[in-house]
Amino acid sequence: MQLKIFKNHNELSEFVADRILELVKTTPEAVICLPSGDTPKLMCSILVDKAAKSRADFSRCTFIGLDEWLGIPPENEGSCAYFFRNNLFHAINFTPANIHLFDALAADPEKECEKMDRIIAARGGIDLMVVGIGMNGHIGFNEPGVSFDNYSHVIDLDETTRSVGRKYFNTPVTLSQGITLGLKHLSETRTVILMANGEKKAAIMKQTLEENISNKIPASIIRTHANGIVAIDEAAAN
Ligand code: PGA
Repeated sequence: MQLKIFKNHNELSEFVADRILELVKTTPEAVICLPSGDTPKLMCSILVDKAAKSRADFSRCTFIGLDEWLGIPPENEGSCAYFFRNNLFHAINFTPANIHLFDALAADPEKECEKMDRIIAARGGIDLMVVGIGMNGHIGFNEPGVSFDNYSHVIDLDETTRSVGRKYFNTPVTLSQGITLGLKHLSETRTVILMANGEKKAAIMKQTLEENISNKIPASIIRTHANGIVAIDEAAAN
């Protein structure tokens, strides 16, 4: 694992956007998994800008959404699907058939998980996975206590995730379960970048990097990844 500390959120976001563009140039059929949330928002806007300037072509790439709030429809502004539509897909030429997001309304969420696992396996695994980190150390919705050996699964959300998650929604919602890629996907991904910015992430970043690697802090798994990059700004490194 490599630790990279950037002056601020902007430089951190630029680094991640550049890594994505570089990958798409060298591997036009790359399989890319991205997160939603406040952390990657700036990265998405830089990526959209740079992709337009460099005429980057994402048409042969596969896009995988990291997670979704179970039961929240894609039209809801707090859903991950809404985030991707408004921050990325409106401006980047992913081929719609190559975009794979969890269906939060699936009648059988277990089947939805199996479907996602099959898609990833059929594409030969994920080339680049970018993730954020929750205040409780989660990655995607891999909450504290989760197995490192899970592929996609449905999970009961931790109290911290339920309350912090309200920040994405303009209307009252009940957040109880999530559907997410598993940490086994992360381990099997060729390159993983964990992003964190801001003072509020400093305490959990310290735990992630310094405490024992265990499912108490799911993000600590990044330290076991040979091509894991922890990319944080000075405030989160504080
Ligand atoms: P954030 O969420 O980017 O909005 O801080 C991160 C996460 O919960 O994974």
